[in-house]
Amino acid sequence: MPDAVVRFGDDELNLPAHVGTQGDYAIDISALRGALGIVTLDRGFANTAEGRSSVSFIDGEEGVLLYRGYPIEQLAEQARFLEVAYLLQYGELPTKSELEQYEESITRHTLLREDMKHLFEAFPHSAHPMQILASATSALATYYPDALNPLDPEAVDISCRRLVAKAPTMVAWSYKYRTHQPYVYPANDLGYSENFLRMMFAVPAEDYVVDPVVATTLNLLLVLHADHGQNCSSSAVRLVGSGHANIFSSVAAGIHALSGPLHGGANQEVLEMLEWIVAEGLDLDTVVRKAKDRNDPFRLMGFGHRVYKNFDPRARILKKAAADVLHALGVDDPLLDLAMRLEEVALSDDYFVERKLYPNVDFYSGIIYRAMGFPIDMFTVLFAMGRLPGWISQFRELLADPETRIFRPRQLYIGSPVRDFVAMDER
Ligand code: ACO
Repeated sequence: MPDAVVRFGDDELNLPAHVGTQGDYAIDISALRGALGIVTLDRGFANTAEGRSSVSFIDGEEGVLLYRGYPIEQLAEQARFLEVAYLLQYGELPTKSELEQYEESITRHTLLREDMKHLFEAFPHSAHPMQILASATSALATYYPDALNPLDPEAVDISCRRLVAKAPTMVAWSYKYRTHQPYVYPANDLGYSENFLRMMFAVPAEDYVVDPVVATTLNLLLVLHADHGQNCSSSAVRLVGSGHANIFSSVAAGIHALSGPLHGGANQEVLEMLEWIVAEGLDLDTVVRKAKDRNDPFRLMGFGHRVYKNFDPRARILKKAAADVLHALGVDDPLLDLAMRLEEVALSDDYFVERKLYPNVDFYSGIIYRAMGFPIDMFTVLFAMGRLPGWISQFRELLADPETRIFRPRQLYIGSPVRDFVAMDER
C-alpha cells in the first residue's frame, strides 16, 4: 500500500493510505495536526471522507451508483421500495419471509398519535410541506421517549421502523392540511406506495382507486432517491447523530438540509424554471446564455453535480421513465419536450461540456411528479420520503462504528488578531 508524504518546512510526515472495496484510495490525515501543527482546508468537503461507509457507492466519472453493491439500474427495475429500505439498513436483500415481516411491522406503525393533528394545525395553511415534515419528524421524539437512545440498537431499530412507517402519513397530512381537506387514515391492506397515494388523493365524498401506473412510478422514484453517499442532507444527519442526538432530531436536520434549492429543493426549482421559460416566452439560447453569465445568479436548475462528471444514472432512468409514464397516463406535457430540448441545447454548449455539467436526478423527476398529480411544492417532500432509508442507514452505520467521533471540523481563523477590550466611552 503506498503512503503519502507531507513536507511542511523542514518537517516530513508519512501518512497511511486506505483502500476501499472499489479500489479508491483515501489518505488518512488524522495525525497531521499533532505531528506538524497544520490542518487541511477543503471547501465544501469536496475532497474529504469523514469516515468509512458501506451503504452506497458512486463513481462520478463513470456514472455508477450502487446500493450495498447492487447497481441502481437493477434495483430500479426489480425492487420494491421497502425491499430497498431493508437492504440499505441491514446490508443484505431480505428473504421472502424477512421482507414480509418487515412490511408487516412497517404497516403496524403507520398511524400518527391522534394529538399530533394539532401540530399540523398550528401551521399557516401556506406553510411549505418540507417545514411541516421536518417539524413533525422532530416532534416524533416527544411521543416516543422510550426509544431515543442512539446507542441502543433495539431502540434505534424501532425508531427507524416508526420513521419509515409514519413518513407517508406525515407527508400526506401536510398536503391535506394545506388544502383544507380531511385527513385520510392509513389503510394497512395496501402497499407502501398505494397507501400513500390514497392518503394524499382520496376524499370522503368519492371512491379512490389507486392507478397501478402511478403506484409503480412512485415506487421507482422512491427507490432512485433512497441513498446517495455522503450528500449534504446525509452528512447533516451524520453530523447531528455524531453528537448522539436521537434519530428523529438527526433526520429532521437532514430534511432541513434537503430543502435547499442546491440540494433536494432543486426538483421544485426545475419545474418553476420551465414554467418561467414558457411564461416569459424565452428562447433556450437566451436561457443557456443567462446560466453561463457569471454576473447573473441564474443557474440551470437540475444541472450539475458535485460528484457526477458524467450522466447521473438516476437522471438517465428518469428521462426514459418520464416519456413512458406520461404516455401510459395519457398526459401530454409540453414541459417534457421543453426539458429535453433544454438538455440538448446545454449539452451541445462548450460551457456545460467543459465543466461536465449533466442533468441530475432533479431534472426529470418533477415532470413525472406533475403527471402523477402532485403539486409542485410537494416535490421535495417526495424526495425526502425516498431518501429516508438512506438517512437512517447512514445514522445506524455511524452509531454502530466504534471509531466514530463527534464531528468537529477545524477552521482557518482569519478574524482579528488578539486585541484589548475598549471601554464604551472610548469607542
Ligand atoms: N448552471 C450553470 N452553471 C453551473 C451549474 C448550473 N446548474 N452548475 C455548476 N455550474 C458551473 C459553476 O458556475 C462553476 O463554474 P466556474 O468553474 O466557471 O466557476 C462550475 O460549473 C462548477 O460548479 P460548482 O458550483 O463549483 O459545483 P459544486 O459541485 O459546488 O455544485 C451543484 C454542485 C450545487 C449541484 C451545482 O451544480 C448547482 O448549483 N446545480 C443547480 C442546482 C441543482 O440542480 N441541484 C441539485 C443537485 S442533485 C441533488 O442534490 C439531489
